[in-house]
Amino acid sequence: MLNAVGQAQHILLIGGTSEIGLATVGEIISRGGAPTVTLALRKDSPRSEAAVEEVTRAGAGEVRVVDFQATDFASHPEVIREAFAAGDVDVAVVAFGTLGDQEALWQDQALAVESAQTNYTAYVSVGVLLGQAMKAQGHGTIIALSSVAGQKVRRSNFVYGSAKAGMDGFYLQLGEALRGDGVKVTVVRPGQVRTKMTAGLDEAPLTVNKEDVAEAAVEAALKGERSVFVHKLFGPVSFVLQHIPAPIMRRLSF
Ligand SMILES: NC(=O)c1ccc[n+]([C@@H]2O[C@H](COP(=O)([O-])OP(=O)(O)OC[C@H]3O[C@@H](n4cnc5c(N)ncnc54)[C@H](OP(=O)(O)O)[C@@H]3O)[C@@H](O)[C@H]2O)c1
Repeated sequence: MLNAVGQAQHILLIGGTSEIGLATVGEIISRGGAPTVTLALRKDSPRSEAAVEEVTRAGAGEVRVVDFQATDFASHPEVIREAFAAGDVDVAVVAFGTLGDQEALWQDQALAVESAQTNYTAYVSVGVLLGQAMKAQGHGTIIALSSVAGQKVRRSNFVYGSAKAGMDGFYLQLGEALRGDGVKVTVVRPGQVRTKMTAGLDEAPLTVNKEDVAEAAVEAALKGERSVFVHKLFGPVSFVLQHIPAPIMRRLSF
């Protein structure tokens, strides 16, 4: 159980090398208790060893690794079974994803399908399985990484943004469906974050660090909030963007 000060006994990170995911796990570990951490990651990722080292250094009691390939949907039930084999999962952080070349994505069918499967279908797949596993154990917290890109889907990144819009809606309603089963879901919506996903891109306004996302995510989960914008200005900004007519949006550069 994620206790009142944010300590957990078992944390699962799906997307086990995600910089935001690892920072979120680190934020929970920093609150004490030396939890077991299960990293669900592509075992052939060049970042897998560093991820294990990072959570070990952060103070995890035990670190487990489960092989996870987002687009191999048939393997997901076994991934979740293996993850829960070490005992109840108190917090599951769902943080895999790809950004990609947005102009290439909307013009290349294979790339677009892979992006949509990774950023939407795989989120639905693990969300259903996590929901059922946590319902069966009678408790749990799911922290799902969405984005402001899903709040107003824009011309500049609409393949990624539309997948985020879909997964955001799915996890919000997963939380509603699991109300009464002791399971809470928090959807986290950062703007741009300084991680390898955005390395080389121009820095957007209101860009934050992964530690800011981690702290906001854990605080929101502890308060039982359904969603959180990491930078406080993104709530009103997203609201205003919803109401800007398409001809005006077309003239804006983002
Ligand atoms: N960075 C931002 O500006 C930003 C802003 C808003 C929302 N987000 C969201 O936050 C989440 C984490 O992002 P991040 O910045 O931490 O990115 P990151 O450091 O680049 O991590 C991405 C993760 O996704 C994994 N992944 C990608 N494709 C996969 C696949 N097919 N199967 C299994 N794992 C796969 C990567 O694993 P490998 O090591 O195997 O590649 C890595 O663990 C994502 O959902 C992202 O969309 C990020």
